[in-house]
Amino acid sequence: MAASPTYGELTDKGASTNIAWHEASVDRAERAKARGHRSAILWFTGLSGSGKSTLANAVNAALFKRGLATYVLDGDNIRHGLCKDLGFSDADREENIRRIGEVAKLFLDSGVIVLTAFVSPFRADRDKARALVENGDFLEIHCDAALDVCESRDPKGLYAKARAGQIKEFTGISSPYEAPENAELRIDTGGQELQQSVEIVISTLQDRGVIPAA
Ligand code: ADX
Repeated sequence: MAASPTYGELTDKGASTNIAWHEASVDRAERAKARGHRSAILWFTGLSGSGKSTLANAVNAALFKRGLATYVLDGDNIRHGLCKDLGFSDADREENIRRIGEVAKLFLDSGVIVLTAFVSPFRADRDKARALVENGDFLEIHCDAALDVCESRDPKGLYAKARAGQIKEFTGISSPYEAPENAELRIDTGGQELQQSVEIVISTLQDRGVIPAA
């Protein structure tokens, strides 16, 4: 007979048992009141080289300048730590996005506007991240730049390597990208000036009451 799991032990399904939810003494509404703005998840998705990180960081800087609490979670950076055990198979990408969805949810609860910049190529995985939070807390922002534009930029030389067969399962070349169908925002990061894109995101946050009008 299998011994019953002790406190904190993992079951064979990897689920921890004997755990309870601890109610926080400071809630999200109190944090929003103290900070003067709501929190939100700004989920940037798009091909490698589409400008997700550039746009997320520029929006982050603009919000920070206004004194708002913000943070960027960036694919390349997170894969140096929290997700360094993951590669680029479909299953690993799914797990990557699952973790980021959960981390983003924690940031949301902490009262911070969190900007995530991940390829997040699969619609189902993005939808699962969206489903973790309330309606209106998750804004999907499609950084829409055509593959040939991203490939001509090739900021890290990865498209060239992928074409040469040196990188397998590369998004857009040998692994699919499922473009959002109902994103809150589609930004033309292929042609539009960065500043214009930043202004669109900021005014959307104002219109939705996440941040106060400037
Ligand atoms: S995701 O698909 O799991 O969301 P993530 O955003 O974390 O990907 O990482 C993508 C970054 O890793 C790209 O910007 C690129 O620099 C790098 N990269 C390395 N290998 C691959 C690959 N096979 N496919 C896509 N991006 C890759």
